[in-house]
Amino acid sequence: MRIYSRIIGTGSYLPEKRLTNADLAAELAQQGVETSDDWIVERTGIRARHFAADNQGCSDLATEAARKALNAAGLAASDIDLIIVGTSTPDMVFPSVATMVQHKLGTAGCPAFDVQAVCSGFIYALTIADAMIQTGSAKRALVIGAEIFSRILDFKDRTTCVLFGDGAGAVILEASDQPGILATDLHADGKYKDILCVPGHVNRGGILGDPVLKMDGQAVFKLAVGVLEETARASLAKANLTDADIDWLIPHQANIRIMQSTAKKLKMSPDKVVVTVDQHGNTSAASIPLALDTAVRDGRIQRGQTLMLEGVGGGFTWGSVLLRY
Ligand code: ACO
Repeated sequence: MRIYSRIIGTGSYLPEKRLTNADLAAELAQQGVETSDDWIVERTGIRARHFAADNQGCSDLATEAARKALNAAGLAASDIDLIIVGTSTPDMVFPSVATMVQHKLGTAGCPAFDVQAVCSGFIYALTIADAMIQTGSAKRALVIGAEIFSRILDFKDRTTCVLFGDGAGAVILEASDQPGILATDLHADGKYKDILCVPGHVNRGGILGDPVLKMDGQAVFKLAVGVLEETARASLAKANLTDADIDWLIPHQANIRIMQSTAKKLKMSPDKVVVTVDQHGNTSAASIPLALDTAVRDGRIQRGQTLMLEGVGGGFTWGSVLLRY
């Protein structure tokens, strides 16, 4: 009998500090950087984002989201036997955010590690957890996407600093004889390194290179639209389903125009797309589990529905997870 992995609880966390486009525009204006609510809304759909406090690390956001997911699943941290965190903005170079979350949750012993696939990080982490559950090496996994992108933004570059926010989302996956995750699909192509990257790194006690996000927005846009359709179709084919079977599309929340054009290619009505980018901005690896938790908690997503989760991000990396909720 096939072992599936099923989502039995979701949770998310947003830092307290919320900035509308007008708030951010006012802050940027003090540094001589000009932007406007109109420009940001028209080009991206973003209206607000949250920024972490100075004393919060990525593991703090991740732990809050994890607690809520554990609560929703009715489990204690000690019931978890695998922790994976998708992140590109860890508290430290090492150890991993996952081991810090494990300790903050008051548990120990189970494997815990991070996955670095930028905005596809949660899709990668979920796929690995699903594979480990299918092979019997884990029974209950905590899978998190958590980011503090505000730490790697250049607030003098208006083409990037208006796009991102901080946050975390989490799911608990459990082994089950009922579906569950139906199909997964992962890809990467390293030749696109330069269109989205943070080139700086720690070197002999200093930082070598520029430690802020660099992006060629139009190149990213074109690439994202193409691969999001391809990976969704690949997962559907693996599960012998068609686009008509999808109840909810939960894409990476980067830009409303990318999401709308993906929905159009999959012949889905825009009201079947879960959109949180307007309130959260692009939270990278946190964006998909944040959107999922939002739509679970507001009652849009119901048990038995078919969900298409899909992400794309720096690397480039991309992929999808098709599941029965
Ligand atoms: N406020 C006001 N004006 C701005 C701003 C801003 N924040 N940013 C750029 N502009 C100006 C530019 O200077 C330019 O002015 P010019 O015509 O006088 O030279 C003008 O607006 C148009 O700039 P473009 O870069 O051509 O704008 P575009 O329509 O391509 O939109 C954007 C830019 C929003 C970044 C778009 O390319 C995009 O969304 N790309 C996808 C990137 C993305 O989603 N990245 C997320 C990370 S990757 C991922 O998550 C998959």
